[in-house]
Amino acid sequence: MNSVLVASNRGPVSFTVSDDGELTMRRGGGGLVSALSEVARKDGVLWVCAALSDGDRSAVRLVPGGRIDHAGYDTGPMRMLDIPPATFHRAYNAVANSTLWFVNHLLYDIPNAPNFGTRFEREWESYRDYNGAFALALAEEAGHGARVMVQDYHLALTPAMLRAERPDLRIAHFSHTPWAPPEYFSLLPDEVAREVLEGILGADHAGFLADRWAQAFMDCCEALLGAEVDRAGRSVTHEGRTTRIGVHSLGVDGDALWERAVEPDVESHMTALREQVGDRRLIVRIDRTELSKNIVRGLVAYREFLAAHPEWHGKVVHLAFAYPSRHDLPEYREYTASVLRCAQEIEDEYGTEDWDPLILNVNDDYPRSLAAYRMADVLLVNPIRDGMNLVAKEGPILSARCALVLSREAGAAAELGPHALVVNPYDISGTAAALHAALVMPEDERRMRRDKLHAAATALPPQKWLAAQLDALAEI
Ligand code: G6P
Repeated sequence: MNSVLVASNRGPVSFTVSDDGELTMRRGGGGLVSALSEVARKDGVLWVCAALSDGDRSAVRLVPGGRIDHAGYDTGPMRMLDIPPATFHRAYNAVANSTLWFVNHLLYDIPNAPNFGTRFEREWESYRDYNGAFALALAEEAGHGARVMVQDYHLALTPAMLRAERPDLRIAHFSHTPWAPPEYFSLLPDEVAREVLEGILGADHAGFLADRWAQAFMDCCEALLGAEVDRAGRSVTHEGRTTRIGVHSLGVDGDALWERAVEPDVESHMTALREQVGDRRLIVRIDRTELSKNIVRGLVAYREFLAAHPEWHGKVVHLAFAYPSRHDLPEYREYTASVLRCAQEIEDEYGTEDWDPLILNVNDDYPRSLAAYRMADVLLVNPIRDGMNLVAKEGPILSARCALVLSREAGAAAELGPHALVVNPYDISGTAAALHAALVMPEDERRMRRDKLHAAATALPPQKWLAAQLDALAEI
């Protein structure tokens, strides 16, 4: 039986299956997985995750109980859950990514959405079933008094469900997203809002990436549940149980990132990129193609910068890497199309025979992203709202002279803000002006700021982040 368990929707690896049935394994994407997978593996933590694709489902079926590591794959201890595809689709796409993600990132086009009707009731039922499947698997795998760390908005109900099964366990929940203020959170049907909050309060410890998100969660508990909130002591008491609220910022393991970033595949991407852009200055952005990342406004700001500063024509290139994400959702497909359209307009307006003002790439290529970080003069991170944003931390680790233009709505702004050029993500002119300021920043100032960004970015690597939460649970 296991003494430490992690549960998340996406696991550290995923599988693709070829026509002849052969399985290929690759690392999972997104901030949560990149942060947790190495530490979890080193510490022998059992990871429970969902099968996300046909490839994953084929892998699960190779072994009884879905213990992928027992099928000879080098994953670290891992159990993948084969949730029925229709249930998974409703829980992941309709509830987690279209509802809870939209609420906590304030993404709704309010005059038109959301609409909660009978269809949503069915989707919500699937979300309950999916959370229940995790609770059941964790209850089966956990040793007596084990510590269980449940991750993110996909699994908001699991802590309370697991507690009902196994009151001996010490349970943490962690939100890698922002949290909405009560007036926005209460767009959710009352019962659903209550269930989400009470689900998380089933944990002994509820963690957030920034104080702002923790405060918003406590505000929701007070306003919507009438719970007793101790803001200074960071705890919420509801129906006789107290949940401690923790703020655990997450940073990057700088040494491990560097080791990866000097491998030959990265070096050869650097050579290729250098050939493409010559000695021009580089403004870099790297994101999932994600509504909350605000990629279109970033491109429009770059266009406004070019309009205002003809002296930079031919001397700067914007490298925008936006790799595919959540393409089962129409909003994401439409967003990707807007990104491509906007990029084309910039090309048409400013491109010349010998100058490409913008290189947009929408394929996932991790070594190429690392190459771009290393070459960046300016890194643009302008999300509408973001739990943390690890890109803002990775860039200054890999580039010795990169100036950071950072949205004030990213969780990372709490730590990096003093050394970055902070922008309002809706203010296109302000963002354009910040891009210019970042490009003309004197050399000594950019190096000084970058050193401070580097220190802040590496202060809380994933090892410490995980240890702090396990310690918090051990005290319970
Ligand atoms: C964010 C979420 C993670 C999620 C990641 C990628 O970082 O907090 O839970 O895994 O996005 O999204 P995806 O839907 O591809 O798992």
